Amino acid sequence: MEHPFLHKRFSRLGISFPFFIAPMVGLSHVAFRELIRFYTPKNLRVICYTEMLSTRRIPNEKLETTEGLKTSENECDFIPQLLGNDEKYIAPSIEKLMTKVPFGFDINMGCPVSHTLKHNWGVRLMGDINYAASVVKTVKKHSPVPVSVKLRGGADKVEDPAYLFDFTSALEQNGADFITIHARTRAQKHKGDANWNLVGEVRNKLSIPVIANGNIQTSADAIQVIQHFGCDGAMIARAACARPWILWQIAEDLGLNACISNELLPLQKAPRSQSDEAKEYGKACLIFLSLLEKYSQDEQYILERFRFFVATGCRWFQFGHYYWKTCCSAKNIEHLRRVVTEFNEKFQNNMYERINMI
Ligand SMILES: Cc1cc2nc3c(=O)[nH]c(=O)nc-3n(C[C@H](O)[C@H](O)[C@H](O)COP(=O)(O)O)c2cc1C
Repeated sequence: MEHPFLHKRFSRLGISFPFFIAPMVGLSHVAFRELIRFYTPKNLRVICYTEMLSTRRIPNEKLETTEGLKTSENECDFIPQLLGNDEKYIAPSIEKLMTKVPFGFDINMGCPVSHTLKHNWGVRLMGDINYAASVVKTVKKHSPVPVSVKLRGGADKVEDPAYLFDFTSALEQNGADFITIHARTRAQKHKGDANWNLVGEVRNKLSIPVIANGNIQTSADAIQVIQHFGCDGAMIARAACARPWILWQIAEDLGLNACISNELLPLQKAPRSQSDEAKEYGKACLIFLSLLEKYSQDEQYILERFRFFVATGCRWFQFGHYYWKTCCSAKNIEHLRRVVTEFNEKFQNNMYERINMI
């Protein structure tokens, strides 16, 4: 299964297909992860992250009924992303989540929203090397499974490669098993290009695997960050909401045995042309809606999550904005299913390969 150009650092962790689906609040819930797995060849082991989860809340939440903590039956290739810095909350959170048998735990060191900054979580942790290292140590102390960190290429307005090297070395020395770098600065938020070259440079200074994230929109992008920029893996975020079959495309492009064929998905090959991808997106939205219904009984939650998924992915489509507005007009799930089906029948949509990230 291993492709010759893939680096070997991930082998130790049992990962031979180093393409990951990112943590995204409001998006990376169980229905989304199942949609990704639906479009991924079953012989590939793929790791999907959860939305970020507050360690202050987890100890008091119910695993089976809290939306963000739900997993599918026997789902084990997932990584809960933890937000927090306090052992008092981290320890019981890990203990509780271990009953779900996750692949590992990730620590969020990249979130720039003010609520997380106020508590010294998220990207604020990047401002203090020793403090960040101590959080890694704490998570390692309690986690029997691998621990990763997701951070940004720059904790402020500009990149500071020397600081980033020191920071990531400290994470490695304190036990991080791998890291993901969202190769944008904090000031960039989610906008514009990502500096994949910087991720490759950090990778060369460390011995643990380093995953690149940010602006990876196509299979070619994902392969390029490994083949050209020397990273160990690629993490796809927003583009997976438009192209949930991106891992299937990557597998095909790597020449791996990547056939998926079942009753719901009779395609022999991953969709590729602008119109085939757009057609499949229409179907994927209906599958996604059914998956949301499978995992939640809360109609409002389902409608909100569906709209957010469409708001994120629709930008890749010619009539995306109109599609999103149509979805927002639906008053309930049945109405939503009807307007999506009608849209699929009426419109010949096209998917753009890449867009400007905003
Ligand atoms: C709606 C949304 C929610 C996000 N939530 C998280 C999160 O919970 N944890 C995290 O580490 N990053 C989060 N991110 C950042 C993504 O994981 C990723 O780093 C970012 O979108 C850049 O990748 P992209 O350019 O491929 O989208 C979020 C991004 C978006 C758009």
